[in-house]
Amino acid sequence: MKILGIETSCDETAAAVVEDGSRIISNIVASQIDIHARYGGVVPEVAARQHLLTIIPVISQTMTEVSWQDINGIAVTFGPGLAGSLLVGVNVAKAIALAKKLPLIGVNHLEAHIYANWLDSSPPGEKDRVKFPCLCLVVSGGHSDLVLMKGHGQFEKLGRTRDDAAGEAFDKAARILGLGYPGGPAIEQASRSGTPCLPLPRAWLKESHDFSFSGLKTALWHLVHKGEISVADAAASFQLAVVDVLVIKTIEAARQLKVEQILLSGGVAANKMLTQHFLANSPVSVLIPPPHLCTDNAAMVAACGYYHLQAGKISGYDLDVVPSLSLG
Ligand code: KG4
Ligand code: ZN
Repeated sequence: MKILGIETSCDETAAAVVEDGSRIISNIVASQIDIHARYGGVVPEVAARQHLLTIIPVISQTMTEVSWQDINGIAVTFGPGLAGSLLVGVNVAKAIALAKKLPLIGVNHLEAHIYANWLDSSPPGEKDRVKFPCLCLVVSGGHSDLVLMKGHGQFEKLGRTRDDAAGEAFDKAARILGLGYPGGPAIEQASRSGTPCLPLPRAWLKESHDFSFSGLKTALWHLVHKGEISVADAAASFQLAVVDVLVIKTIEAARQLKVEQILLSGGVAANKMLTQHFLANSPVSVLIPPPHLCTDNAAMVAACGYYHLQAGKISGYDLDVVPSLSLG
């Protein structure tokens, strides 16, 4: 069964065809990063206009090797994200579903990030390698969610960020340090020539599974404005502080809940230090999508859509965007 996935929630215009929820047949991502970089962040109106210009060429390119007759459903992100951007994807998906008489499947972007763990990177025959219950850490530009997944479509949110999301913290720290946008890759790159020697705080919020990164960001700002520090050392110290909190709190929750596995996802899961620390310290196996499937893409939307379709979860043509949609 082949699903066409469409993703336009933020600054990537993406389409993909995925077979049986795991095998990627085509996966096209048109990034707007260069356009937004000059403003230091995503400009919503510019993003929406760019999606309009790009979405049809991206879908056409995705379909070059696939016949429309082989497509069994159209999955699209309907939230969370930027309203104007989401609208472009949802309306294109509705038009295609109507014209091709295919089921329309509205997908939660955060759930889609988790489903990147079902995609192809696993060796053949390991499709069912995910073991429930698992603990999902979704760390993106807008979210730092800790979610218990008991089965397909069964999510229970345990924790979230109380202020900045992990990716947002990376982006803001990069701005403080005069590094580029997006901040995560820029901080990771700068860290390579530094050592994590600067004192930065970690918010443990011991009584809960929530996260908080704004105090860390403010502490970094004070360090930078107090005097001469090396940007590389500051980047490395900041990265380690974020990684420490994400890894230690997630592993602690995994122990408490006695889960079978930890699943990482979202753009921040592309961070090497984060993945290395998880793999070195977790008592249970950790699944991590390859970096290009951690950041926004439509293959994850198609994979998620496949499991919705299997469960008979189909959307009506009244599907609307939900910019503040959450998970669990
Ligand atoms: O999942 P994503 O592509 O989009 C959202 O749904 O938000 O995540 C984007 C976020 C950005 O904040 C970016 O700085 C961060 O992921 N990111 C990283 C890395 N690559 C992307 N953070 C840390 N290390 C990275 N290598
Ligand atoms: Zn995302």
